[in-house]
Amino acid sequence: MAVPLNKRRASKDEEAVEALELELLLEAVYRHYGYDFRNYARTSIRRRIAKLLSEEGLVTVSGLQERVLHDASAWDRFLQGISVSVSAMFRDPHFFLAFRRRAVPLLRTYPFIRIWQAGCSLGEEAYSLAILLEEEGLYDRSLIYATDINEATLRQAREAIFPADLMQKYTQNYLASGGQQSFSEYYTARYEYAVMRPALKRDIVFSQHNLVSDGAFNEFNVILCRNVMIYFDRSLQNRVHELFHESLEMFGVIGLGHKESMRFTPFEDRFEDLDAAERLYRKVR
Ligand SMILES: C[S@@+](CC[C@H](N)C(=O)[O-])C[C@H]1O[C@@H](n2cnc3c(N)ncnc32)[C@H](O)[C@@H]1O
Repeated sequence: MAVPLNKRRASKDEEAVEALELELLLEAVYRHYGYDFRNYARTSIRRRIAKLLSEEGLVTVSGLQERVLHDASAWDRFLQGISVSVSAMFRDPHFFLAFRRRAVPLLRTYPFIRIWQAGCSLGEEAYSLAILLEEEGLYDRSLIYATDINEATLRQAREAIFPADLMQKYTQNYLASGGQQSFSEYYTARYEYAVMRPALKRDIVFSQHNLVSDGAFNEFNVILCRNVMIYFDRSLQNRVHELFHESLEMFGVIGLGHKESMRFTPFEDRFEDLDAAERLYRKVR
């Protein structure tokens, strides 16, 4: 059942109006800015919009639509609010442990490794992957294409600067992911920031790519897209699965987020499990 965006008790009529306003907002954003959020999962979109309404001091979704269409800075805030950028280095460390154990031995057989990390947020996952590949002696022959819909987060990702107070958590994650070095070797502390070692950037290309509307742009040995499709409805998830299947070479590896799966999708028979619990699969047809 739809929950009123502004938390007050809404009549069925008000709920229907609110649902209509939401559809109109997403349609307007698509037509005016070309960003298509129409097939994002409604529950999470509603949560995001409710948060934006309160941050903007607005009461109605129509009010938000008017502001987003007429005020460029409101549009920036809207894009930032809708594209959830929560991430962490070595997030879900057991995924990276499984990647080291199950995917790395396969990657050793390739002369050159092309990786697409889709939905890279501020680059936390791309830098984690660079560290892992460096430790496994594979980084020199790897190229990581790290993409995101959001140009503002990509600009930050290229900087490779993170708040220093996150480093303790990232160190724990790194160690739990099978990391053998001292994590502090990978960054320099500068006041309240940690600057990642520049060498880690050398084989990462950050660029904009929208999973909703953009197509395949290369053939990859590995695709990681974690905690992104969770925000999409089923039809959009299917589209992205097809895009990934098309973009992955035979026996290529794909890694998804903990709440995502290749099972029970139209593409499930094209992938076999490398580590089902960690959502690591390999394309087999
Ligand atoms: C929750 S973060 C996940 C970051 C990282 N993959 C992780 O697991 O920690 C979701 C990211 O997906 C991006 N995103 C959302 N919609 C997208 C789309 N249509 N195309 C590409 N990236 C998208 C957001 O901008 C955000 O950076």
